[in-house]
Amino acid sequence: MDDFKVVLDEKEIPYQWYNVVRDLPFQLPPPINPGTKKPLTKDDLRPIFPLSLIEQEVSQDSWIAIPNEIRDIYRMWRPTPLRRARRLEKLLKTKSRIYYKDESVSPTGSHKANTAIVQAYYNKKEGIKRLVTETGAGQWGSALSFACNIFSLSCRVYMVKVSYHQKPFRKSLMHIWGAEVIPSPSEKTECGRKILSLDPHCQGSLGIAISEAVEEAAKDKLANYSLGSVLNHVLLHQTVIGLETRKQLKKAGEKPDYLVACVGGGSNFGGFVLPFIKEHLKNRKIKIIAVEPSACPSLTRGLYRYDFGDTAMLTPLVKMFTLGHKFIPPGIHAGGLRYHGCSPLISALAENGIIESISCRQLEVFKAAVTFAQAEGIIPAPETAHAVKVAIDLARQNKEKCIVFNFSGHGFLDLSSYDKFLSGELKNYAYPLNEIKRSLKDLPKL
Ligand SMILES: Cc1ncc(COP(=O)(O)O)c(C=O)c1O
Repeated sequence: MDDFKVVLDEKEIPYQWYNVVRDLPFQLPPPINPGTKKPLTKDDLRPIFPLSLIEQEVSQDSWIAIPNEIRDIYRMWRPTPLRRARRLEKLLKTKSRIYYKDESVSPTGSHKANTAIVQAYYNKKEGIKRLVTETGAGQWGSALSFACNIFSLSCRVYMVKVSYHQKPFRKSLMHIWGAEVIPSPSEKTECGRKILSLDPHCQGSLGIAISEAVEEAAKDKLANYSLGSVLNHVLLHQTVIGLETRKQLKKAGEKPDYLVACVGGGSNFGGFVLPFIKEHLKNRKIKIIAVEPSACPSLTRGLYRYDFGDTAMLTPLVKMFTLGHKFIPPGIHAGGLRYHGCSPLISALAENGIIESISCRQLEVFKAAVTFAQAEGIIPAPETAHAVKVAIDLARQNKEKCIVFNFSGHGFLDLSSYDKFLSGELKNYAYPLNEIKRSLKDLPKL
């Protein structure tokens, strides 16, 4: 087969999301209510999530039907192409075959739209009028703004301050789709005001923006909170990526030797690899690699412990690889990877040796992204570029292997970061050992 892309028909969009939990050889540690120190109940989540999403969060069913209304919206961009990076292979003079699942073709430019429309749909159905969320680089915020616009919900986005200034055009996207965007930390919430009183120049982090959004949603009966990653139901919605990829690889007559994706909270990685896990557990033939920034290395340098999902300790405690909820990562340009923890599901896979993880530094990531863009034409988002970097490194080993990575989003709105890289202004951040040590001391004791 010498095709450049493997495409599926619209009828081949999955009819069900895949829930991996029943196929795992271990039980996931339950989330804990920090007040009672007991496993979380569905009622604990009711102030901020609709019941349908709570049911999905705790579901033990292997398959969950995708509502027809959602499949209809998915048809706007799904199935996404699986591309063969032939020109990159040629440039690298590699014997490896490189494929990438191109999630950048969604209207908002990344995989985040796959769950945004689902979350807006269930909230609308349950009578909610307004969604509040956080965003790092702005990919999630723009995806939720797009989804809220479709379902006529209003939307407020707390955007991490450093990205708010680094990525002004993501803000424009959110405005076009009718959302309100607030730089975080802000004066709008109690936790924002507290953080600003201690550090008026605080650049913000995903952990802080989550605190502000949760605080606001919990206080308003007609508003709910919406999270773009980390939780089981978000990874569940993203499994459309891996389900399609499996079909496409079969069509191409390929079996993957490597599956690679970047990890922030874990949703594009999870959505891409979880549909392969059941088979992987039988024969362990695939190397599954999660790539994270060395400035925020939760999987490679964090501890597997119960911790809060946010800085102000408003969320439940979940067992995950964490750098500590108080850790504020350096202002790297991959804003969507600046999260102190990693999805409990992905963390458990890492803890049990089912997946591997690698960390990369900012400059080498941008260098790989430019190589990729020069060969393939598409410009990766700085987050996605972490997966690109590792795929290129694997291909440089020049073995006859099938390398498949998830192209989680494009970087058309990250061009100022590319300009900085090309003009030599971008720097590597030192691994923030002391900050991490300090923040790990504040892990909650159970
Ligand atoms: C393009 C892109 N890829 C990856 C990520 C990381 O998030 P996750 O780990 O949930 O996929 C983000 C987050 O904003 C993103 O925008």
